[in-house]
Formats: sequence, C-alpha cells, structure tokens
Amino acid sequence: MSTPFSFSLAATDGRARTGVIDTPRGQIRTPAFMPVGTAATVKAMLPESVAATGADILLGNTYHLMLRPTAERIDRLGGLHKFMNWDKPILTDSGGFQVMSLASLRKLTEEGVTFASHVDGSKHMLSPERSMEIQKLLGSDIVMCFDECPALPAEDSVVAASMRMSMRWAQRSRDAFGDRPGHALFGIQQGGVNQDLRGESAEALTKIGFDGYAVGGLAVGEGQEAMFGVLDYAPDMLPQDKPRYLMGVGKPDDIVGAVARGIDMMDCVLPSRSGRTGQVFTRHGVVNIKNARHADDPRPLDEDCSCPACRNYSRAYLHHVFRSQEMISGMLLTWHNLHYYQELMQGMRDAIAAQRFDDFVTVFHGLRAEGDI
Ligand code: GUN
Ligand code: ZN
Repeated sequence: MSTPFSFSLAATDGRARTGVIDTPRGQIRTPAFMPVGTAATVKAMLPESVAATGADILLGNTYHLMLRPTAERIDRLGGLHKFMNWDKPILTDSGGFQVMSLASLRKLTEEGVTFASHVDGSKHMLSPERSMEIQKLLGSDIVMCFDECPALPAEDSVVAASMRMSMRWAQRSRDAFGDRPGHALFGIQQGGVNQDLRGESAEALTKIGFDGYAVGGLAVGEGQEAMFGVLDYAPDMLPQDKPRYLMGVGKPDDIVGAVARGIDMMDCVLPSRSGRTGQVFTRHGVVNIKNARHADDPRPLDEDCSCPACRNYSRAYLHHVFRSQEMISGMLLTWHNLHYYQELMQGMRDAIAAQRFDDFVTVFHGLRAEGDI
C-alpha cells in the first residue's frame, strides 16, 4: 500500500508556515515553488536539471496538453510522468483559466466552456467532468478543480456571479473526481478583491471538502498592494490543516509576501520565461543580461550562487550568447533563475523552522535595496 496524500505542518512563525506534503511520488517541502512545465517540458531544461535546482513538484497544463498531444495519447504512452521523464509529483491546472487567456471563440455556459484551439483553430469543450477526466488520463498527482475567473478590475456583481458558478463547478469537480487514494483534488477560492465574496467562496469549498485549497483569481491585473490586501485575510479563511496554494505568483517579493501571509505553494512562469528573455533574478535584484555593461564583465552573475551558469561562466559570456541568440543562453539563465527561486524557498523554510522569518524578510529586502548590480 503506497502512502496516501497528506500534509503535516512542522513549524509556524507568525502566519508563515513550513511543512511537508507526502505523496506516493515523494515529498513536497513547503513553502514550495512549482516550476511551470506547460507542454510536458520546463522549457530549456532537462527534468533532471529541474530536480537539481531543488524542485519537488512541477505544474502541467490541462489546456495545452489536451490540444497537443492530447490526454488520450499521453495516457496510451503511460501517463505524463513517463512521457516527460519526471517521476516526482505533478500538479495540473484545470484548463478554464488558460482558455480565457489563450483560446478564441470562447462560449461560457453553466455546463462549461467551448472554444477554438490557439494551435489550429479546432473546436473543443471543457467542463468540470471533462477536466477531471483529462487530469486523470494525464496521471496528475494534484488535480485542480475546474473554475472560472474574471480579469480585474470587475464589478462586484460580475465577480460574485462568476465565483458562485465556480463553486457549483467545484462540487461537480468533486463528484467527478471520485475517490482516488494517493491523488489529491484542490478547490480554488475566487471572489476577486472582495472580502465577503472570498469568505462565501471559502465556506462553499470547505463544506465540499478538499485535500488542499488554492487562492485563485489573483495576479490578474490588481497589482501587488491589492493582492497582499486579499492575502491579509484570504488564507486564514481556508482550513489550517491543508495546503494553501497561491496560483500564478509571482516575482520574488510577491512570493516572500505571500509566504509571510500563510501561503504554502506557488507556481509561476516568471523564472523560466525570464530566463529566455535575459532577465535574471539575484539576491541583489534583477539583472538584464542584454545590457551592454556586461559585455566585458568577467564576474559571474552572482558570486555566491552554486548553479552551473554562475559556477562556470562570466557575465560577458552570458551576455554574448544571449545577444547571439544561442540556445545555451536560455538553458543557463533558466537554470540560474529556477535555482534562485528554489534557494529562496529553502531559505524561507529554514527561517520559519528557526523562528526567524522576520529577520529573513528584512535581509531579503535589505540586499535588494543596495542597487547597482
Ligand atoms: N492560475 C492563476 N490564477 C488561476 C485561477 O484563478 N484559476 C486557475 N484554474 N488557474 C489559475
Ligand atoms: Zn546562478
């Protein structure tokens, strides 16, 4: 009998938490950052390299995989883990959110959403039931409820109606998911920046009962201050004894602020995407490797970073391969960025365990204020 899915908190410091999620595919140390592997790859990285950065879990996307190469094909080939050569846990997003940002000819009804593929224009449908079926075919370890989320700013009445439909979809997701030992289903809280609606959503989800709870509908145009405003109350509306996942966030300072407010898991394309556009995250702030001032610089990106990009290459080299559009540029910078994010998470986990998270946050912001990198 394999380990079932469970979450145990090891320590808290203020509202920040550290713990472990146990799954049959291994442990996820929290707070956790999940690199995004949308199309069955974390772009420019081998899976073993992603693991070497310290990632315990990846995120995959229902929307992209259902269109290409299709969930049925991945199932026939033995599931997503085998297909992409990643044997640790995978969380899959449920598709609705990506339909809204990527697909065309979208039609949203109580049943679900029909849309045209951004790949070839072909017509498709997603509903709570179909999303659960696809995520099962993929073999996802953490399945997300099928939900919907309006772009902000939006009228309260629009946010309320959308949230209530997402809560009906959450019940349908729960019913369709069924009982799958070792696999988890997470609910997704909606409600925009409205505290009453966030409360109503949390209550609806808690009543249904999930293995974890996501805070959704943020980082959709509201800005950091408004997002932190919501995170000042939203995580505490969700059960203490289950993981809380902030979807689609974010920049390093968003992540530190979210963990300070009780978030356990996050995902974002930023470290991998920025690696391909020459934006590098370091303890001292962002470095743009494209900048001409790096052309003769023999120093590494970050003296204290142990990633291959920093151990073996100069800023001058990284600048050169970026300017020359060499593939190794995206590979090295993505590796560095993912390494930086995972080191940030490890630093927070250690600080929370040692009851010195406030000091960690002070040092984090202090280093970044020094400027000129
Ligand atoms: N990714 C970022 N935000 C969201 C959200 O609100 N719902 C889903 N399903 N995915 C997201
Ligand atoms: Zn590095």
